Amino acid sequence: MPSRPTFMTKSSAPGKIILFGEHAVVYGRPALAVPVNQVQAEVEVFDSARPGIWIEAPAIDLHAELNTLPSDQPIAAVIHNFLFLARLSRFPDLEIKISSTIPVASGLGSGAAVTVSLTRALASHLNYPMTDEELNAFAYEIEKLHHGTPSGIDNTVVTYAKPVYFVKGQPLELFKVGKPFTIVIADTGISAPTKESVGDVRRLWIHDRSRWETVFDKIGEISFTARRAIEAGKPELLGELMDENHALLQKLTVSSPELDQLVEAARKAGALGAKLSGGGRGGNTIALVEPDAAETVASALKEAGAKNTIITQVL
Ligand code: MEV
Repeated sequence: MPSRPTFMTKSSAPGKIILFGEHAVVYGRPALAVPVNQVQAEVEVFDSARPGIWIEAPAIDLHAELNTLPSDQPIAAVIHNFLFLARLSRFPDLEIKISSTIPVASGLGSGAAVTVSLTRALASHLNYPMTDEELNAFAYEIEKLHHGTPSGIDNTVVTYAKPVYFVKGQPLELFKVGKPFTIVIADTGISAPTKESVGDVRRLWIHDRSRWETVFDKIGEISFTARRAIEAGKPELLGELMDENHALLQKLTVSSPELDQLVEAARKAGALGAKLSGGGRGGNTIALVEPDAAETVASALKEAGAKNTIITQVL
């Protein structure tokens, strides 16, 4: 018999894009990431009259009781780890509804956003207060379960939902946007697990460390210069930096013909610069545009094969 929910807690977290520095960030170089508020993961937690912890995530066709799921299933892993952390004296009976408009495995941080919103909703519902710092550390542990050697940038930008200048292992640095700017995000529609491209870059690096360290250094300098341009209110300088960053990501073998095609199409349609964003191979590209060129560039990207585009303002 369906249960009758008595008390509900709701939480959400945004998607994200990496503006500069992906992959090099895994090797200690700085990267810049910003939230994308047009897409969100949303979690509702209800008290339940039926025993157990019931999870509904229609987008991934998941309707199950927690203990029937493998413990490494990503949502189950978050719940098990949270229950362990909170050391509850009694196992709660809950219903958890998860929905998300963030495309999966496309570099927009869908996994991190589900982890953060689910943990926040559980913490609040079960009266276990967590600071953003604690939540971020928890989400990083979950990212490590699924992504091998993540830098932690995805969980950080999604937890704080603010522009982040990220250096692995260093205290959080938020940065100010001197003048808002417009980005067109375009999805290749090809899902590409970050773990694989990160693993491939690691194999390259193991075989020729000095060559790839030089590439990481160049990417790190781009991130550093980009932050200064953004803070100084000169976002028009970012176009060239995006182009340079994309060329270095091509060298790292994480681009693909589809990503290159979208980057080219954006530039031809008037974008000031463009690059892949995130793990690469598939997923998304980003293009810097003047606000009144955004629609034209988005249409050109669709014509060039983008499955979806999002126009977002970085504020
Ligand atoms: C993924 O969004 C960004 C990568 O740099 C991986 C990471 O930082 O963990 C590719």
